[in-house]
Amino acid sequence: MPATTPATPSASLAVDGGNPVRTAPVAFMKPQLEPQDVEAAHAVLKSGMLRAASRCAELETRFSEITGAKHGLTCSNGTTALQLAYGALLEPGDEVLVPAWTYIATASMLVASGCRPIFVDADPESYQIDLADAAKRITPNTKAIACTHLYGIPVEVDGVQALAREHGLKVIYDAAQSHLATYKGRGLGEFGDAVTYSFYATKNLGTGEGGMVTVNDDALADKIGLLRSHGERDKYIHESVGFNYRMNDITGAIGCSRLDRLPQETDARRGAAKRYDAIIDEIDGIGRPRIDDGIEPAWHLYTVRIDPDAFTCTRDEFCAAIKAEGVPTAVHYPLSLTDQPAFAEIVARNAADFGDAHPPVARRLAKTVFCLPMHHALSEQDTDDIGEALRKVASAYRR
Ligand SMILES: Cc1ncc(COP(=O)(O)O)c(C=O)c1O
Repeated sequence: MPATTPATPSASLAVDGGNPVRTAPVAFMKPQLEPQDVEAAHAVLKSGMLRAASRCAELETRFSEITGAKHGLTCSNGTTALQLAYGALLEPGDEVLVPAWTYIATASMLVASGCRPIFVDADPESYQIDLADAAKRITPNTKAIACTHLYGIPVEVDGVQALAREHGLKVIYDAAQSHLATYKGRGLGEFGDAVTYSFYATKNLGTGEGGMVTVNDDALADKIGLLRSHGERDKYIHESVGFNYRMNDITGAIGCSRLDRLPQETDARRGAAKRYDAIIDEIDGIGRPRIDDGIEPAWHLYTVRIDPDAFTCTRDEFCAAIKAEGVPTAVHYPLSLTDQPAFAEIVARNAADFGDAHPPVARRLAKTVFCLPMHHALSEQDTDDIGEALRKVASAYRR
């Protein structure tokens, strides 16, 4: 059976019993290992050197170099990468500006470090942290800004750095989704006090679990290294209290092997994003985040937004209809962080101090965004079919 069936503008939706655009659904992501990745992991298994050793060290050197940073420190995942960066740079009680529109770990690891997250709204056009809103929430206790390069799209780094300079804030960038993205031609590792990455299975560089912190300051790298491994410099001598957040060499080997392909795979994602841009720009009622000049995303996720006034359906109904056409989607994220039950007490305290509990743009995004399939193997046929499914569903539900 062919993977695609031609749809006419008047074709009824698959969700209503019509023919789908695709009988074989498009893959949402492609996290599969290649034989050389398995071989690299196997070599470590055969060697018996399972702890962090040469393959982790190689990943640290190569990944920090390719992202423009001086030091890279592998760790167990992107959450512990954040905790290590926060632990080394912040003190309990510090107020830290953090986007309300990001994955929970960016904010929850502040709580784990004894800091107070001050939630900042998203910019309605870029979906990234709104720097004007951030500036309004600065108090004498504000010590840092922790911001995410969300979906693989770098934030406006110059603006973040200027705000930080003006108020003497530290900057931690969560680049869990932004491996190899660049800002004004420079790697993201060049900016801020620390940059954190996740190598979770579905990330652009996926090792299963894994993460890294990159920094440019020698003393900070040393401090993070100690924090990562029980404050131990000499065997069983513990200079400070720390954690065991180490990576292992099986993970390191998979990371090195996948890193060989990451530049080409990132280019392939960029090609797919360009094709998507052209499709989205032709459909009234569906928008995409503004990407400013000088920003080169890594496209971990390709996220769009529906205008609820343009359609008779909700975002979830729209997604169900395109799924029936053979196009899976995901919602990153269904809630603003200020609506997460985990943060209810913090949100109430912030509301008392800043006068608003829920930044409105983050809440609106939670109801209207969805992510289309994105990976390095997305073919032109795939994006053509996705475009057809989007047009078909949009015209069926147009108000
Ligand atoms: C923006 C962001 N920060 C942090 C993390 C946490 O990374 P990990 O799942 O490796 O702990 C993720 C993972 O989804 C993420 O997307």
